[in-house]
Amino acid sequence: MTTELKLGFLASGGGSNVQAIIDNIKSGKLNAEACAVISNNSSAGVLERAAKEGIPYYHISSKTNPDDTSEAIINAFKSHGVNTIILAGYMKKLDPAIIEAFNGRVLNIHPALLPKYGGKGMFGLNVHKAVLEAGEEHSGATIHRVTHEYDDGDILGQKFVPVLPDDIAETLAARVLEVEHQVYTETLQKIADGEIEL
Ligand code: GRF
Repeated sequence: MTTELKLGFLASGGGSNVQAIIDNIKSGKLNAEACAVISNNSSAGVLERAAKEGIPYYHISSKTNPDDTSEAIINAFKSHGVNTIILAGYMKKLDPAIIEAFNGRVLNIHPALLPKYGGKGMFGLNVHKAVLEAGEEHSGATIHRVTHEYDDGDILGQKFVPVLPDDIAETLAARVLEVEHQVYTETLQKIADGEIEL
């Protein structure tokens, strides 16, 4: 069965992953619709990107909506027909109510090869430092289903990069980011084609 993907993005930062998905939709590489972008951070670059692309965007956080943050997120996405939530650098733990409201159709990208190098505290350069300290020969990016635990849930897509002898966390992060920009689209297209069932 094929599924029409109507994407709602949650991001806290620059949003290069969101941009890559939008670009791939525009070029016809990904059969999906970018319906709305929400950030918990009013100055996040991802909101500027959404504005430029003409995609509805919202700043929703515990400051803007102290009593009903999750409800506000659910309502904003539902009002734009979102059926799949895409986390891309969203620095907040997701309320299980949001996951339930979208029948578990919530994905995240992690900049390492899960199940290793995930969990609490494993974000940003911490991830790449841990990979280098462990002497791994490879790192990469993982797309997984979101559950109530950090970086848990079925792995739906992975792409590897080599770790090079003179790598520092920053150079490894940049190499991983390049494949992040490919693997989200590839995994979403498999979902759109019915090869992966959500
Ligand atoms: C990415 O490395 C992603 O894997 C992590 O946060 C970063 C977000 O980068 N969860 P960007 O905002 O998409 O550029």
